[in-house]
Amino acid sequence: NNYALIMAGGIGSRFWPVSRTTYPKQFLDVLGTGKSLIQNTFERFKKILPVENIYILTNENYFDLVKEQIPELTDNQIIGEPIMRNTAPCIAYGCYKIKQLNPDALVVVAPSDHLILETENFIDIINKSLEAAKENDCLITLGIKPSRPDTGYGYIQYSNTALADNLYKVKTFTEKPSLEIAQTFLASGDFLWNAGIFIWSVDAIIAALDKHLPEMSEIFRDGKGAYNSDTEKDFIQNAFQRCTNISIDYGIMEKAENVYVMPADFGWSDLGTWASVYDLADKDYVGNAVIHPEKVMMYDSSNCMVNVPGDKLVILNGLHDYIVVEANNTLMICPKDKEQHVKQVVADVKQRF
Ligand code: GDD
Ligand code: MG
Repeated sequence: NNYALIMAGGIGSRFWPVSRTTYPKQFLDVLGTGKSLIQNTFERFKKILPVENIYILTNENYFDLVKEQIPELTDNQIIGEPIMRNTAPCIAYGCYKIKQLNPDALVVVAPSDHLILETENFIDIINKSLEAAKENDCLITLGIKPSRPDTGYGYIQYSNTALADNLYKVKTFTEKPSLEIAQTFLASGDFLWNAGIFIWSVDAIIAALDKHLPEMSEIFRDGKGAYNSDTEKDFIQNAFQRCTNISIDYGIMEKAENVYVMPADFGWSDLGTWASVYDLADKDYVGNAVIHPEKVMMYDSSNCMVNVPGDKLVILNGLHDYIVVEANNTLMICPKDKEQHVKQVVADVKQRF
């Protein structure tokens, strides 16, 4: 009865210039491991559930890319969305579709673009949470101990009473707070970051959709006869046009009362920025992380993050704490602490070229 729904429709705009609308982060081998993030995500789930129970939800533009990277999947397991409407419609669609296949299904919803270093711990946590989701009518999310007041995450405040082993009731869920609020949360010590990995029964999530996003729920309930048949594509084309654009975090997690968190520690990173890749990458003795080291020469340079694939010879001389990345005919050189500026850069580039 266990299913996985891997979300792969985002565009990863902070990971520029490597991540592009035509080739977002989940399809890249960010750390130079030989496999893309989505391939690694798929491999992890294969250790937990049967391959035929793994579904990938993506934008229809990326359908071929998913097929190419994960040839084991059948066409019915790769679900293409006609337009981007964020994660709530994507999850509603996936869960209704799975319910039609198996009314008792339990689903793990997971992003495709995260890094998880400790696979065994991950498997253990997922199995525990699936067990808890089977026994209780609840929405489970995994919580990571926060290390900085990052405003790109959901923050979870939880109570000490356990519903099951290592599973606590969520008091408040705050998606992407302001920096000031994030700092207060971090200082208080009783908040976790939302890892964006959810575990629930199809019934529990559909009940929550009925309550908090009733119009959206109705749109996808109407597809009952179409799912897993020839008419699914036409139905979805129309259904997505009618959906509001909202993430599951704002739409459901902030509002539902039966949310529980399982604190987890499995070497997680959402690889949101180059600096976060730098933190995880292998470094030389002066702190340089070089993803393709074959043709890079360094003089008096330290703590740099260098990712220049291909045969270009790269020479760094007297450079400290810089990011040097090249991809898609674009070279970007910027100090590590100016990286947040990249969103503006991308916007400017779009306007000018
Ligand atoms: N299929 C599909 N369709 N997938 C999507 C869509 C969509 O419209 N939009 C986003 N995704 C995918 C992304 O590819 C990613 O794998 C996942 O859904 C999460 O979306 P993000 O856009 O990366 O969300 P976020 O990083 O801003 O925030 C979420 O993740 C954080 C942890 O990394 C939230 O859940 C936060 O609360 C959480 O802390
Ligand atoms: Mg993300």
